[in-house]
Amino acid sequence: MADLRTRYLGMELRSPLVASSSPLTGGLDGLRRLEAAGAGAVVLPSLFEEELAEPRPGPGPADRAGYGAGPEAYLSLVAKAREALEVPVVASLNGVSRGGWVGYATRLAEAGADAIELNVYYVSSRPGLSGSDVEWHYLDVVRAVRRATGVPLAVKLSPYFSSMANMAGQLVEAGADGLVLFNRFYQPDLDIEAMEVVPALELSSSVELRLPLRWIAILHRRHRVSLAASTGVHTATDVVKVLLAGADVAMMTSALLRNGPDHLRLLEVQVRDWMDRHGFETVEQLRGRLSQRSVPDPAAFERANYIKTLASHPPSGTRGFA
Ligand SMILES: Cc1cc2nc3c(=O)[nH]c(=O)nc-3n(C[C@H](O)[C@H](O)[C@H](O)COP(=O)(O)O)c2cc1C
Repeated sequence: MADLRTRYLGMELRSPLVASSSPLTGGLDGLRRLEAAGAGAVVLPSLFEEELAEPRPGPGPADRAGYGAGPEAYLSLVAKAREALEVPVVASLNGVSRGGWVGYATRLAEAGADAIELNVYYVSSRPGLSGSDVEWHYLDVVRAVRRATGVPLAVKLSPYFSSMANMAGQLVEAGADGLVLFNRFYQPDLDIEAMEVVPALELSSSVELRLPLRWIAILHRRHRVSLAASTGVHTATDVVKVLLAGADVAMMTSALLRNGPDHLRLLEVQVRDWMDRHGFETVEQLRGRLSQRSVPDPAAFERANYIKTLASHPPSGTRGFA
């Protein structure tokens, strides 16, 4: 039977299927179900900088953490999850500024987190702030968290950088052991009857996989860093694609919220089946087989195929091009 073991952030995982940060991972019950269904690791919901700036007095609710439940509830979940699960438990910090909150990384590690995922959720809307100022900001936060703790550190990034490969290298220099590509920003919508801005959270679909797929293929083996695919992994085909592009793990949230933790069982069977049919015994053998460095036409991941792709669109029955 195909061996699904992989390495991520220096840890050995039994499978590349990882449950990313979401309400599903915010309680012991969900975490146990994810582990039982085959998750190779779990990422807890984020502890937000805003919660750490004004901690609530006293312990929060005992059985859930994340989304405003407060730091004490979070630390308690980290400790309980570490005790209850065999698989690595990744704690998640979400913030933008380099404040005292980054010191929480130490407490998360002490509570038992095997690694920390840092989500720098930052939407730059100030015209005076340059791209390099924003990059500096990211790097500053990463360096501060790196200084606070020695546990493996992954950085969950937005896809909006002008020079992603360069930024990836700088993040590695700043201390990132892994990059999670990508964070998915929630775009607010407008309610035209109420004349209001409304929050809109929609789950992803496999079509959105293309963005992480391209960047994982480009970044594979460019830097000494683990790569996690996040956004648009739903099916076993998606999992195989990100591994072929060069990812160390395939992270999922929308697929698990939609189908429940047991979806992992199905994916595992189907990924193994694909590996058997294609003669791969280990994940290592197939990882990066279709990365930019490995394919005969590396330009396929860049601009060169642009004209060909547009020209290949069938003109009949479509608007605009005919
Ligand atoms: C309801 C919900 C809650 C989420 N909470 C967090 C969070 O606390 N921290 C975080 O880094 N990402 C969070 N995410 C983002 C997911 O971890 C993931 O990166 C994103 O949904 C894209 O992956 P997917 O296509 O598999 O859903 C959340 C996503 C959803 C849908």
